[in-house]
Amino acid sequence: MTNSLIPVITIDGPAGSGKGTIARQLAAILNYNYLDSGALYRILSLLSQQQGIAVDDLQGLVALCEEMDVRFGFDAQSSSNSGSIDELQTNKQPENVSVFLNDNEVASDLRTEECAGRASQLAALQEVRAALLEKQRSFRQSPGLVAEGRDMGTVVFPDAERKIYLTASPHERALRRQKQLKKQGISASLGTLLKEIETRDSRDQNRAVSPLRPAADALLVDSTNLSIEQAVNRIAEIVRGGH
Ligand code: C5P
Repeated sequence: MTNSLIPVITIDGPAGSGKGTIARQLAAILNYNYLDSGALYRILSLLSQQQGIAVDDLQGLVALCEEMDVRFGFDAQSSSNSGSIDELQTNKQPENVSVFLNDNEVASDLRTEECAGRASQLAALQEVRAALLEKQRSFRQSPGLVAEGRDMGTVVFPDAERKIYLTASPHERALRRQKQLKKQGISASLGTLLKEIETRDSRDQNRAVSPLRPAADALLVDSTNLSIEQAVNRIAEIVRGGH
């Protein structure tokens, strides 16, 4: 199968919209490969910080992008599911996916808001986005791919067969983030989280290159008042072909 015939489902949207959880569930059920494109920007953020590469050192940043060998430890092929979309409604999938950078597991290092904030700064650089483009496309492997991020449907996989744009109010997204942090034993004020989310949204939406926006042919889903299960059901409907 040539690469362009391999089906792709894209799920784009802002931080906290629930796209990560939903994309993982969808990939597991379909036995598709999975790409968390935000993890690539976060890894670049982490590595550049560790190595003292400044946010304006384009050459250094591009070299890091080229060196990065990233793999997700979400083994869709070994899933015991039949691959039926109908199972999406009841299936319980793992919340977390391992992220391997050169064979080292780094997922927990990528979760901080500090790492995300720097990632969002780096993600505004044309050179960085160009350096990560082919790397992202290389995840398009048989039998298919579920890709989540900000520009999956608009730039990276414009020919995807299903495009979803998932959103939720900033307040709801900050609340979700607060709950997630609480589970990790970290307390954070709602006001601070809301501010961080709004700063990141604004940077992602207003940058000149690949801004966060729905593709013209994306279907919009607002998850503000939906549980994860309801959001998954709604997206399952869309993937099945209903609107
Ligand atoms: O999705 P996540 O929150 O992990 O992404 C971290 C940051 O990486 C985002 O705020 C955004 O700036 C950037 N990003 C991007 N394009 C993507 C995925 C993430 O610009 N496709």
